[in-house]
Parts: sequence; C-alpha cells; structure tokens
Amino acid sequence: MTEYVKLVIGEETYKLPVIEGSEGEKAIDILKLRQKTGYITFDPGYANTGSCKSAITFMNGERGILRYRGIPIEVLAEESSFREVAYLLVNGVLPTQKEINRFSVLLNDHSLVHEDMRTFFENFPRMSHPMGILSSMVNALRSFYPYLHQDAEEEINITVTRLLSKIRTMAAMSYKMSRGHKVVYPRPDLSYCANFLNMMFDTPVRPYEIDKEVVRALSVFWVLHADHEQNASAATVRNVGSARTNLYACISAGVSTLWGPLHGGANQAVIEMLDAVVKNDISAKHLVEKAKDKNDPFRLAGFGHRIYKTYDPRARIMKQMCDAVLEKFQTSDPLLDVAKELEEFALQDDYFVSHHLYPNVDFYSGIVLRAIGIPTNMFTVMFAIGRLPGWIAQWKESMEDPNLRISRPRQVYIGPKETEYIPVGEREMNIDK
Ligand code: SDX
Repeated sequence: MTEYVKLVIGEETYKLPVIEGSEGEKAIDILKLRQKTGYITFDPGYANTGSCKSAITFMNGERGILRYRGIPIEVLAEESSFREVAYLLVNGVLPTQKEINRFSVLLNDHSLVHEDMRTFFENFPRMSHPMGILSSMVNALRSFYPYLHQDAEEEINITVTRLLSKIRTMAAMSYKMSRGHKVVYPRPDLSYCANFLNMMFDTPVRPYEIDKEVVRALSVFWVLHADHEQNASAATVRNVGSARTNLYACISAGVSTLWGPLHGGANQAVIEMLDAVVKNDISAKHLVEKAKDKNDPFRLAGFGHRIYKTYDPRARIMKQMCDAVLEKFQTSDPLLDVAKELEEFALQDDYFVSHHLYPNVDFYSGIVLRAIGIPTNMFTVMFAIGRLPGWIAQWKESMEDPNLRISRPRQVYIGPKETEYIPVGEREMNIDK
C-alpha cells in the first residue's frame, strides 16, 4: 500500500508518493513534482536528496552503522579480505572458493600494464602528485584497451578486472618512477595486497620481505575504504556514467573527486596537520579553537562527516590498527600521540559535540600508512585503490537500472533579466556613467 505525503501550494493540495527503503528510511518521490506543481526543490550539496535506489552499502549515520551488501564492516574487517570484499561489492555475493580462485587468476593475468604506458609515467614532471598521475593513467587505459561494449557482459567483467588489478601496478609504477627507481613487475605467486607492497618496496639490492601481518593490515585498510554509498566520488562516477561514458573515464573522474582535501585528500591533510602540530609545538586547544573560528578557513582535517553524526565505525577500527601496526614494528609515532590527544580534547569541546564532529576514516588512516612505509603524497592513492571496487559497484548498479537517465540537476536562476546587447563603441560611455 503506497504511502503519500501532502504538499499544499496556494489552493492546491498535491499527493506525493513515499518510497521506503529496506532499513525503513523514507523518501518523498518528487519525480513528477515540477510537472504537477511547476516547482523544483533546492538542496545544494544534496544533503537531503536521494539520487538513486541502491542495494550496495547501508549507512546509519546516527548509529554509526556501515554494511557492505548487508554485512557489517566490523565483521568484514575481521573475517574477510580485500580481494573477497571487492568481489562481494562488484558481484553482490560472497564468492565460493572456486570463484575466488578464478578471480585471483584473472587479477594476476591482468596485472601488467601496456609497456607503452611507461613513457607516460616517464614524462610526468618528477614532482607531479600521484593522484593527478593516477587519474590520467586510468583514463589512458581506455586508449590501450578500447573495446568496452556496454552490452557485452564479459567485456565489462574483463574491464572491471583490468581496473582492479592494474590500479595497483600503476600506483606502484608512479611511486618507483618518482624516485628514479627500477619498476618492479607484479609476481604470479603473490596475493593482491602482497603484490602491491612488493611492487612498491622491492629493489634489486634489497629484496622486500613480505610480512603477513603487514599484508593483513593493508587488506583491512582497503576493506575499510571499499565503499561508502553516495559519497562525492561515487556520485561523480554515477554522474559521468549516466552520460554512458566509458568506465575508465568514470573512474578517472572519481579519482579526481577523491583528491580534494574535503574528501579522500583529507588523509594526507591530517598527517600534514599533525606534523605541523609536532614541529611547531601547537597545543590541541589552539588547534581546536582555530578550527572553531568562523573567520578562519581552517578545519580540523579528519573530523566531521556529512552522514556520520557519531564516531565513524571505520575510524574506530583504524585507531585500533594504529596501535597494532606500531606494536608490530616495535616503534611509536609521535603523530599518533598527538592525534589521540587532539581527539580527546575535541570530543570534550561543546562546539564539536554540538556539531556532532567526530573522527572520520581519514583521521587515523595516515598513521597506519606511515607505519607500512607509504609516503604521505601516496595516501590518497591508497584510498583510491581501496575505493575502486565501490566505484565499480556503483557504476554497474546504475548501468543496470532500466530507468537510468542522464544526471542533469536544475537550478534557481538569480541572474539579470532580459538585457539588451550594447555595441562595443557605446560600452565605455555606459561604464563611465
Ligand atoms: C571522506 O561522504 C563520504 O562518505 C566521504 C567518506 C567516504 O568514505 O567516501 O567518508 C570519506 O571524505 C571523509 C571526510 C574527510 N574530510 C575531512 O576530514 C575534511 C574536514 N571535514 C569537513 O570539511 C566536513 O566535516 C565534511 C566536508 C567532511 C562534511 O561537510 P558538511 O557535511 O558539508 O558539513 P559542513 O561543512 O556544512 O559543516 C557543518 C558545521 C559547520 O559549522 P556551522 O557553520 O554549522 O556552525 O560543522 C562545522 C562547519 O564549520 N565543521 C567543522 C568541521 N567539519 C564541519 N568545523 C571544524 N572542523 C571540521 N573538520
């Protein structure tokens, strides 16, 4: 039985249908609003607007719940692997052992990149940001693997596997070439995460020692980043896909969106913020006061979230990982101590409490990456590798929607009314008035 809400405009009353999600979330269906009323809605940043129906990821921001295909993030972080979670997100079900084995073979078979791509890497300025390189190289894959027929399921499966596998190789290549080091090729005997670490850190004079605890930490790190429903970069991927643009270009646009310091770029911004605190001996109190100052554009990086109005469940797991990874290496990180002090101070501050500002996934993630040896300017690339399965799942779901239309928001126009054209000779007089 469809539920309705009533909208009264002047003398008219309109009935608008209500859509209810599987977790009880309700939405007012405004599909015919303008046609019926002549009105549109106004919601910059889309904080109150659902762009799609989705069965991939469920979040409850008030209760700090996150589930991929119904499975709680805490369980997946504990029990699963990144390779398995990637399969779950993209295909909608947990793979059987046979499906895992086949997926691993495909990931291995597609792990190399075309040798001609090396010249692309060689010609980027040495100081190029790895996210700019990654976005460009993902787009370039289309030129090297042009045959993506939207209706050819196998073609899509190969393209998905190429992206999932090659993104690691390209990320590691950009790092090696930025250091002037020899590129390390993927190995058939290593797992998804171990291969990436080996491609990053193996050298001819010092072979990289694969440590299973480090591999496990990286796998959990990527599981925590794998999807997050309609975040800015996933919404971008859907937006670009709605024009029926090829998947490589959609993902390239997602990488570019993630790069921003308000989104995935925050993990790099957090470490730079904590580093500045240590170097300049800034107090947690000073930083929190600065973040609260409306006349200061500074925001506490790694804090706050559009959806979570409580502790980000991923941040909770990431914080525990920091202690475990640092203990593994029998080391400490002064930035972790600062981060914990900052969190404790902020969570006692009325402004942060009243604004529901808690640590998000980016607040502690950089500490884990530093412990593994990932350079700071690669942090957001690490986020992108983790988020790729989610972007692909969101793209696939939208492509499979029979009612998919091109995304084209409306606006409220506030510019000049009809204005006459003034010939150039008369304009100076006009301005001098
Ligand atoms: C990610 O969407 C996702 O799911 C993203 C993500 C994912 O997995 O895909 O979770 C990954 O991007 C996490 C967020 C990483 N970004 C940061 O850590 C940057 C710092 N955080 C903020 O800039 C902010 O909290 C956002 C961007 C995350 C959310 O912005 P909103 O929802 O638009 O909130 P807002 O900017 O309107 O802020 C609401 C209020 C404002 O104060 P008032 O004007 O209402 O008094 O909270 C304040 C803001 O000034 N505020 C902060 C703050 N974040 C919000 N004040 C100080 N420090 C902060 N970090």
